Amino acid sequence: MKVRRDVFRPSYPTPAAMITCATPDGRPNIITLGEVYMLSLEPLVMGISIRPQRYSYGVIAETREFVVNYVTEELAAQTDYCGMVSGRDVDKFAATGLTPEPAAEVQAPLIAECPLNIECRVRDILPLGSHHVFVADAVATHVEEAILDANGQVDPERARAIAFIGRAYWKVEGLVDRAFVPGRRFRPAGR
Ligand SMILES: Cc1cc2nc3c(=O)[nH]c(=O)nc-3n(C[C@H](O)[C@H](O)[C@H](O)COP(=O)(O)O)c2cc1C
Repeated sequence: MKVRRDVFRPSYPTPAAMITCATPDGRPNIITLGEVYMLSLEPLVMGISIRPQRYSYGVIAETREFVVNYVTEELAAQTDYCGMVSGRDVDKFAATGLTPEPAAEVQAPLIAECPLNIECRVRDILPLGSHHVFVADAVATHVEEAILDANGQVDPERARAIAFIGRAYWKVEGLVDRAFVPGRRFRPAGR
């Protein structure tokens, strides 16, 4: 039976991504975010939502630059750690052993272990509520060729992608059959 009730983080799945930024004097930081979106595809405009009390919020608001680094199953522990401690107290690159790599267009570093990185420059900050949305132009994308399929699109199994749903990380596995069969009736799960 369907009931009317509020659900925590009701939109699913979202990626869990590690966002990198750097202070004007070059000190890098990593913040894990579940609220990461593609707001426009052409041109590619990214959105990320951050609570104003986060250390990274101040850094990104000041420098107006960040990098979205997509994570793998193997990076789940580092991803979670970077979402539990603050760059105010900890050097998260040193603590996790993740490798900072120079970006092409921004001062924030890429995370070398992540197979896809999108460098972003902020064009707008929308104070919507608990979270403020940073609207940002993608200025450079770096991708590990081994995660692309024959059409040049990301294969989530090769990318070892994980989805963040509620408060947990889930594997992304198996292609869904989308063949339309005329006359077949659709019945939502659980009904
Ligand atoms: C999987 C996961 C997703 C998260 N998503 C968000 C998010 O979308 N927005 C946000 O403000 N904080 C989010 N957090 C919390 C921050 O990552 C966390 O408060 C972090 O310690 C802040 O780091 P900083 O103080 O170095 O900026 C998330 C944490 C985890 C583990």
